[in-house]
Amino acid sequence: MRIALVVMLMMAVIVAKAQSGRILVAVYSKTGNTMAVAQNIVELTGADLIEIIPAVPYPETYSETLPIATEEINNIDQYGIYPEILTTIESMDAYETVIVCSPIWWSRIATSMQSFLHTYSEMTDGKQMSLVVTSGATGIETAWGDLQRLCPNATLLGNGIRISASASHNAMNIVSEWLESIGLYDPTGIEENHDQTTPNATGVYTIDGRLLQRDDKNTESLKPGVYIINGKKQVITK
Ligand SMILES: Cc1cc2nc3c(=O)[nH]c(=O)nc-3n(C[C@H](O)[C@H](O)[C@H](O)COP(=O)(O)O)c2cc1C
Repeated sequence: MRIALVVMLMMAVIVAKAQSGRILVAVYSKTGNTMAVAQNIVELTGADLIEIIPAVPYPETYSETLPIATEEINNIDQYGIYPEILTTIESMDAYETVIVCSPIWWSRIATSMQSFLHTYSEMTDGKQMSLVVTSGATGIETAWGDLQRLCPNATLLGNGIRISASASHNAMNIVSEWLESIGLYDPTGIEENHDQTTPNATGVYTIDGRLLQRDDKNTESLKPGVYIINGKKQVITK
């Protein structure tokens, strides 16, 4: 009886520990660049991902989207009216950190992502947050101001990161260095929410502990991703 109670208490502690450091990646991406970067973050950290979907889809082309974005930004700035989104979230209680991933639109956080942050701003109170943007050329500064405005009671980590559109589909290294710099990724360690049964085993494992090969020499056949190789988490970029 007493042993069962101790085991139950230990399980409760383990569950609480696994949830306490969890990361939510909130992403809006129209043409896939920002989504590629968001997926890198998920692979490296085991974060959960929520995609922001606009209620009214944007036109296919860049030139047709520009005037709509202009009008939406104007509505936000002048009247506090945000475009409708389909995405909803019940709670962010399970997350300690929220990483916002958005394209730059007219130097700003894209309007659908602004809607999400505006709608759920209170849920971000007391959370750690940071920002990842992709853009053709514009820097992150003005978009960072949007994050500060929309989530005033969050603790912002670092200065965010801007990744150029052209680098966005090959950004695993940049992303891992940035995550490491803000303390969200440890390339030498295995996070507590990953499978703990294989850290000392030799060979190549997925991050959830599935054995891929006993031989650690030939990693060339591995797809880009994160693996546990001889007990150490490693990123394979090509
Ligand atoms: C409406 C709109 C406005 C944009 N404004 C800017 C801008 O101000 N500066 C810039 O460098 N790129 C700008 N871009 C380019 C995007 O930021 C860039 O292509 C981004 O990587 C797209 O991300 P996505 O594929 O996740 O949608 C704009 C794109 C669109 C559609």
